[in-house]
Amino acid sequence: MTDPKRVAILISGSGSNMVALAESMTGDHPARPVLVLSNDPGAKGLDRARAMGIPVAAVDHRPFGKDRAAFEAALMDRLAEARPDILCLAGFMRVLTPGFTEAWAGRMLNIHPSLLPNYRGLHTHARALEAGDAEAGCTVHEVTAELDGGPILGQARVPVLPDDTADTLAARVLVQEHMLYPAVLRRFAAGDRTPVLLP
Ligand code: GAR
Repeated sequence: MTDPKRVAILISGSGSNMVALAESMTGDHPARPVLVLSNDPGAKGLDRARAMGIPVAAVDHRPFGKDRAAFEAALMDRLAEARPDILCLAGFMRVLTPGFTEAWAGRMLNIHPSLLPNYRGLHTHARALEAGDAEAGCTVHEVTAELDGGPILGQARVPVLPDDTADTLAARVLVQEHMLYPAVLRRFAAGDRTPVLLP
């Protein structure tokens, strides 16, 4: 059997998708987590990763101010030590420059809480409700220089219910995120880019 693919997971917050990914990478899974990296040293997900025995690191973006390239160079240094084959953005809330996305082209995934190409960017659930959509969901895609714009590798759909608020809808979508992202990563790590469609 070939060596498992090495996966680094980038987070900014609670890291629930990171946990779903990390928990999936056992047994015959073709990948293993080698690093959880955050732009926020206080991110709760770092504690969760530590508790799972995964190496963690933080590169605080704040001292870099508007110098995104310098922040990303520091990320690159930390990633170089972990030698990942694949990067998974999992609630990583920094916009990446083309320099970074091109360096990881074809090797970097993101999960976004909308049915792309609808609602790129922020406040996806509020925007779906405002538009009166009957359906919402989440998307895993390859990361390119275009924000939330790379090739789609999987989608999961949920109904929008009459009493939904942005929070209740987000919670229902998050349950799907935790199924979709591991399913896509398993396929992607095995070299298969056929989109995963859930449910
Ligand atoms: C998730 O809902 C993810 O889709 C979203 O942030 C949340 C992170 O939760 N990502 C984005 O909005 C990216 N633009 P988590 O830290 O518990 O995985």
